[in-house]
This record gives sequence, structure tokens and C-alpha cells, in this order.
Amino acid sequence: MSQTIATPPTIRLDSDVIGRPVSRTDGAAKVSGAAKYAAEYNVPNLWHGYIVSSPIAKGKITKIDAAAVLAIPGVQQVFSHENVPSLAWFDRSYKDDIAPGGSPFRPLHNADVLFSMQPVALVVAETFELARYAASVLRIEYAVDEDFNTDLEKARAAGKGFDAPKGKPGFLPPPKPKGDADKAFKAAPHQVEAAYTHHTQHHNPMEMFASTVEWLGDGKKLKIYDKTQGAGNTQQYISKIFGLSKEEAWVISKYTGGAFGSGLRPQYQSFLAVLAALELAHSVRVSMTRQQMFSMGHRAHTIQDLKLAADDQGYLQALEHHAFAETSQFENETETVVNWSGILYKCANTKFSYELAKVDVNTPADMRAPGAATGSFAIECAIDELAYKAGVDPLEFRRLNYTYRDPTEDKPFSSKRLLDCYQEGATRFGWDQRTPEPRSMREGNMLVGWGMATGCWDAAMQKTAAKASLTAAGHLTVSSATNDIGTGTYTIMTQVAAQTLGLPMADVTAVLGDTTLPPAPVQGGSWTAASTGSAVQAACQELGKKLLKLAQKMADSPLKGIAFEDVQFVDGHLRANEDIDRSVAIADVLATSGEATVEAESGAEPNPVNMLKYSMHSHNAVFVEVKVDEDLGTVHVTRVVNAVAAGRVLNPKTARSQVLGGTVWGISMALMEETFLDNNLGRYMNHNYAEYHVPVNADIHKIDVILVEEEDDHLNPLGVKGIGEIGMLGVAAAVANAVYHATGKRVRDLPLTIDKLL
Ligand code: MOS
Repeated sequence: MSQTIATPPTIRLDSDVIGRPVSRTDGAAKVSGAAKYAAEYNVPNLWHGYIVSSPIAKGKITKIDAAAVLAIPGVQQVFSHENVPSLAWFDRSYKDDIAPGGSPFRPLHNADVLFSMQPVALVVAETFELARYAASVLRIEYAVDEDFNTDLEKARAAGKGFDAPKGKPGFLPPPKPKGDADKAFKAAPHQVEAAYTHHTQHHNPMEMFASTVEWLGDGKKLKIYDKTQGAGNTQQYISKIFGLSKEEAWVISKYTGGAFGSGLRPQYQSFLAVLAALELAHSVRVSMTRQQMFSMGHRAHTIQDLKLAADDQGYLQALEHHAFAETSQFENETETVVNWSGILYKCANTKFSYELAKVDVNTPADMRAPGAATGSFAIECAIDELAYKAGVDPLEFRRLNYTYRDPTEDKPFSSKRLLDCYQEGATRFGWDQRTPEPRSMREGNMLVGWGMATGCWDAAMQKTAAKASLTAAGHLTVSSATNDIGTGTYTIMTQVAAQTLGLPMADVTAVLGDTTLPPAPVQGGSWTAASTGSAVQAACQELGKKLLKLAQKMADSPLKGIAFEDVQFVDGHLRANEDIDRSVAIADVLATSGEATVEAESGAEPNPVNMLKYSMHSHNAVFVEVKVDEDLGTVHVTRVVNAVAAGRVLNPKTARSQVLGGTVWGISMALMEETFLDNNLGRYMNHNYAEYHVPVNADIHKIDVILVEEEDDHLNPLGVKGIGEIGMLGVAAAVANAVYHATGKRVRDLPLTIDKLL
């Protein structure tokens, strides 16, 4: 992979650390094994729980015979609905912070089985191996209810669809219709009417879900090492269910080995581990198996119907985007799927809908760029098809229909350099060398195809708090209860703090993933850089104000009478903006003050006025080259250029890594990923790494990332949009469009496997 990191315009001073491609501050701990994940905390006297999963999709547990299991020496307990104590949530269905509408799944609540692989029991023993063995001996009898359906197509054919209700935080209902899409479609000379589908996909983070719950004794209760995207969310959920105070449910989540949305909601192993620890008054760890990782939420199987029409010049005349997605029987998981089409293009006649149907699976979950990855695949393939029909180059078609305002909200974008993404991406890729006809480019036996697509994602922010603490020895610690799921949060917190107080990065430590720290939301939605970054900056500024006051108390202080706005923090000094010789070393301020530490706490939250005035989005343009073996139908993605405009870039190295990861996943979504449902059994069949395909190094070739920086004062104090998700958008569509260009074949059903191409 190429290493193109342009020096971003953000860097203005030699001392600036924001904007520099610094390596991860947590990198050494991760590669050396010093970084501990939830299942790696070896607390004393630890027992192990093994989860027993339902083999049936629907029915009732009629009998649990635990006697033989309990007779095994070393087995401590078998938990099931038969012996779970009365819990707060048996009276009320407590939701986690980001639960969708409906009633959340309650493990071991009653005899009902609602989906295949549902946890039905927990066997606790002195070792993991013993617990696993004992679980294999446990006999559970079921009354199978054959009247279930896991097939979305069947639910649709039976007329089970309903308009998705509101309820999930952040979900945008489909935009209202504009103009007359039917009439405009019929009248236009070029039309595309097609359905695009992808089946169920599962998050496959390296780290399995696990919770190590340390029993601290009565009155102190629990220290919970949890795999999650939000320590605070787990705490909230656990404390409500078990009636614990926040102090009694202390949650730690220092490192997360990938989550991609699967850890936004607390997973059921957290509940099970806490239950066992409280009931047994003992430390307990519960880890999911790899197979069980396919039971806790997934990207929803979705069918999308698009109707697009254009005039002879290539201007869009009509745009309809309708999505139909699965949800569970007990919750209405909602994603924003269709709105992106309306945000990306200018069109006078539009119509959107988003329907759900209930099937007998677990509730789908957010998965990297939830909704947008789904929607952008469909709209960007359909746009490509329409561009071909209108005889316009696909890139030119997108330029013709470019919009400077968000048509769905009728607001200007706070910033949008998508045209520059198109330009820089096309130049880097060499798009002008493309011959438009399908099958017109080849290399020997390989059909060469070039395709492109675009995407957009929310530039979001959430209320977040942070603390800054500077010791007399000059070491700064910044902290927040946020998580770092591998995105680089530790690193950018360190950079922002070092920059704000003019200290070297080596003198700054970032601490996170602990509910005793200032509160922060889950890490998700690409909002953490904006939220935690801005909170850290605010806390450091508050600390800076205190330092200035202390500096002004010094005898003969050169900073007497100067306002905070008129000082800068550079090279370990406070100095006057207008006269940098009026300067005091921070070390001297601390030494003179006699304080051991100076601390400040502050926070950041979205600016409601700007949110009303502007539409805030990141954008990207993706260019893909595929080579398709004409005889075998094998597709190789040989080259990708992904140009991303996501506001200010705090760290081009970690930002690039996020875009690389998103690009790899987009290729994976296009060519490989699918969880197969056996609708007779209502069960996912390829729930393992052998049969659920994800790319390996040999599948990934050259990926070139271009970061197109945007200056944007409207977003948040740091001017960042977040970059965790935007990089995935458009990739699957660009691959599919490139395959069409190579082969002349449109495949509208992901993944694009050989059988569909031959
Ligand atoms: Mo992301 S799907 O918001 O973790």
C-alpha cells in the first residue's frame, strides 16, 4: 500500500502537534501485549462462566436438568430463567443509552426462545475448560414452535412491512417527498429502476465479547472489566438492572479489539457475568465464543428499490429510494438508509421510504456507517447505471448533479469539498485514461474495470466532559470516560492537550475507559474526535486560565494585567501574544505556586445554533480498479483511491488508518461478506471464521488515501468531522461499478461472488 501523507495545512508553527502524523501513543502497549483487554484481567479467585446457546429459533424451554452438571466437582452454579432472582428489570424493561424502540432482549428472563443462539443458561465453574465441559453435559428440552420466519423476502411478500417508527437516537426518518417523482420519471428519456440487496453481515472484531467481573466484597460490590464501546453505557445499564449505585458498578474498558458498532449496546455477556458475580459473591469472567459472536446483532438484511431518471444532458429528473429491512420481534432497529441519496444529489422530484419487517432473529445492530453503507451501495450503483444510460461519464454525472445545499433539510453545508475529492481522486487515479465502454479495457486474460462512487456521513458531536491535571513535575494527564475502539482516541487526546498547553507530547498522558472519569458517551458515530477532543481542549484551556492566574501572582510577573485571550502556550511557556518576551516557564509557575497539582474540568457539547443553521457532513470519492479473470470470474481489487473531506485532520496517520480500514471493509462488503441463514432452522450457518469470509492481506492491494482538509468553524472548537466511518462509504458501489465496467454485467446483490458473475 502506498504511503501518501501530505503535510496538512493545519500545521502553522514548528511546535504544532495537531495535524502531525504521529504514531499511536498506545501502539507499543498493544504490540507488546501490555495492553489489557476485558478477558485478560487476572483478578484473584476467578471463576468462569460458559454461555449455553439455544439450538432452536423459536419456542419454549420445557425442562432444564442441571443435576448432573452440578454434581461435577468444581461446578459452582447453573443459571437459567428457573433460578435467576427477581431483578429490577423484570418489572421494567430497562434500555441502554442507545437502544432502539421496543423492549430490549432480557437474557434468562423467561422460558421463551426468541432467536437461534439466544443465551439460555450460564454454567459457572472453577476453570473455563470445566465450565465448557459442564455446559456440554447440560440437558435442556425445548418445545419447538415451528411457526417462525427468518426470511425477509417472505415477510415482505406476506405484506408484513411497516413504516419504521422513530425511537432510536440519531435516526432520521425518510425525507418528505418533493415535486412529482412519478410524473418526472415517466417523462424522462433515461430511466433506471432496480432493486439492490445485501444479506445479513456480522461484525467480526478480533476480540470476542467478554466481561471480567471482580467481586470487591459487600458494600463495594463490582469492578467490571467490559468489552464495550462505552463504559458509561454499560454502567448505566447494569446499575439500573441490578439496582446498583454507580460506585457499586464500576466499569473499566481500556482497550477494545475492534467493535465496529457491535459494542455500542452492552452485550449479554456483561449481564451474565454480573449476575453470576452478584449471586455467587465471587469474581466471574464470561467470554463469548467466536460462534456466539454471530448471535449479538448484525447489519440488517435490506432490500432497496431505486427509481432514477435523467434528461439527455445527465441532470437528475426523478429520484426514489425505498428501503425494506429486517428487525427482530421485540425491537425496531432503525438505520438511516435512504436519506443519504437526498443529501448527495440535487433533484426536484424525490420520494423516499423506509420500512421494517419483523423476523425471528436477534435485533440487528449498528455496523460501521450503519444505514449509509447500505444506502450508498444502492444509490451509487443506480447513479452509475443512469450515467451509462444518459451517455455521461459517471464522475461527470455526479458533478452535474452536485449540490451546495443539503436538499433534505434545505440548509447550506457547514463545509463541503467533495468537488475537490472528485478532482484530486480522479487525478491520482488517472480517471481520464478510462474508456467508457464495458469490456473495453483488458490485460491479457484479465478484464479491467474502473468504477467510482461517493458517500457522505454525519459530522456529529455529543456532550462530553474531560479533566486536565498538571503536576509540579510538569506532567499533564488528561482524562475522560470515553473509549478508544482502535480509532486513535488516546493519541488525539494527547495531541490536543499538548497543543493547547504548549507541552511536548512526551509530557502528556491520556487516560480513558473508566466510569470514575468525567462522563462521555459511547465511542461511535465518528463523533469521538469532535466530542472528546473538544472536551480535552476545553479542560486544558481551563487549566491554562488557572496557570495564568498563578503566573500573575508571581513577583514581578511579566504577565500582570494580561487577559487569557492574549496569551499563548508554546514550548512549555506562557507568553503574551503581542510580546513573546513577556514569558514565564510553566515549570516556574508551578514551582513558585507551591501547588502539587493544578487541575481543571470542563466539557464540550454541540452548538445548537450552528446545528439549526448548517448541515454537517463528511464526504468522500472512491475510485476502484478491478481485474476480473474472464474464465474463472474471480475479482481482484487491484487499486483504490479514496479521497475524504472530513474537516480538519488532527492526525493524518491515524486518520489514514481509519480510511484504510473502511476501504478494506468496503471491498469485503462488495465481494465476500454474507451470513447465510438456513430459513428452515432459522439459524446462521457459517458462524465461524472458516466460512464467514473476510479479506486477508493477499486480497488487498494498493489503497491510496487522500485527505482533503476543510476549514470549518461551525462544527466544534477543533473543526473536525470525524473519520471512522466515511472511508467505508461508496467503496462497495465503486467495486460493483468497476465490475460492470470490466464485464458488462450488473450484479445488484451483494456479495458479488463468482456464481453471480459467470
Ligand atoms: Mo459505529 S457503527 O457508530 O460503532
